[in-house]
Amino acid sequence: MYNLDEEKVFRDPIAGYVRVNNEIVWRCIESREFQRLKRIKQLGSTFMVYHTGEHSRFSHSLGVYEIIRRMVNEVKDLNNGLSDYDKTIVMLAGLLHDIGHAPFSHSFESILNKKHEDYTISIITEKSEVNDILNSYSSSLSADIASIIKGTYHNSILCQLVSSQLDADRMDYLLRDSYFTGTKYGEFDLERILRTLRVADGKVVIKSSGMHTIEDYIMARYHMYWQVYYHPVSRSYDVLLEKLFLRLKDLYIENSDKIVQQYPMFKDLLENETLTNDQMYHLDDSCCHYGFQLMCQNDDKILADLAYRVLNRRLFKYCSIDKKDQIYNMVVEHGFNPKYYFSQDIQIQNPYKPYSNEISSIWVVKDGGEIVELSNESRIVSSICQNNQYKDEKVFFPKEVIND
Ligand code: NI
Repeated sequence: MYNLDEEKVFRDPIAGYVRVNNEIVWRCIESREFQRLKRIKQLGSTFMVYHTGEHSRFSHSLGVYEIIRRMVNEVKDLNNGLSDYDKTIVMLAGLLHDIGHAPFSHSFESILNKKHEDYTISIITEKSEVNDILNSYSSSLSADIASIIKGTYHNSILCQLVSSQLDADRMDYLLRDSYFTGTKYGEFDLERILRTLRVADGKVVIKSSGMHTIEDYIMARYHMYWQVYYHPVSRSYDVLLEKLFLRLKDLYIENSDKIVQQYPMFKDLLENETLTNDQMYHLDDSCCHYGFQLMCQNDDKILADLAYRVLNRRLFKYCSIDKKDQIYNMVVEHGFNPKYYFSQDIQIQNPYKPYSNEISSIWVVKDGGEIVELSNESRIVSSICQNNQYKDEKVFFPKEVIND
């Protein structure tokens, strides 16, 4: 379907080459919404802990696309079983799955009243360059791609490739985030997974000889969550950002004209409950950093202080939730307003949820052809699932509170 005259390639440290043969894919990569992803860091605040973790959502999105492209071409059951149309839309769903991300995703989601997944669907299905490109090929493309991302497409195999507990998204981000942060926990053998994927009983399954690789992948996920994604220092940075935007919003409520004039880059964010595709396009890491620079000069001491802390890594300290009351009192005694200088936060992780549902679970096909859910077959996975949730609850506060 719509092959390019000549294959385009991107060099990539994880994928080797990202290969593009399809004209629609190429045109979507060239759209302004996709190019914007170069200006959004994949890991938001993680570079505060792992200084080399500065790769973009652009590179991750290309990586997810490439894993799906390889799956539909190299896994025989998928290559033979899927139509050209289905191959095209699942590659596009992989490419576009993160297109609605705001800068510093997690902190922004506390301000925006709409999740990044919903912005992704809006950009694909409503007025945008991406939407114009898709519509110029076929009127069904955008709705079909959106339904794969939402997990409602009629052929659930496509949904499994893009979003399940063994999907191309997770495979790419574990490998990529591990590489760019310099941590080794996220590594696993992607080539082996691709070699052992099959389709049976209407779903994607893994041959039992590939199960140990899947165990590695689940362990990679478990370690990456605690070592990278939920690292308390990057959570501390997220807390600071949330507090900074909370203060900005409170100042806006007091004097909206003045704040909008001072920080035009945050006008849309302050004036609206949700953003349009065009407004989201204009929001990126660079405009936020420029805003924080300007805020350091603000007459409001709290806003200026929070912005200075964000820019110069004067992060909040953290400790276990047991000391919550004591720390809260100390914050108040030191003259800090706890609304902006005290926070508690909980992170919960499930490395793997057995039987979450037919699409999301990982299935193993045994030598005799019987299909079983992964935790029935793997001792490592069943023991990691016994403690079904791993929690970490902390409080965050300015370091001055305990150092003076
Ligand atoms: Ni992703």
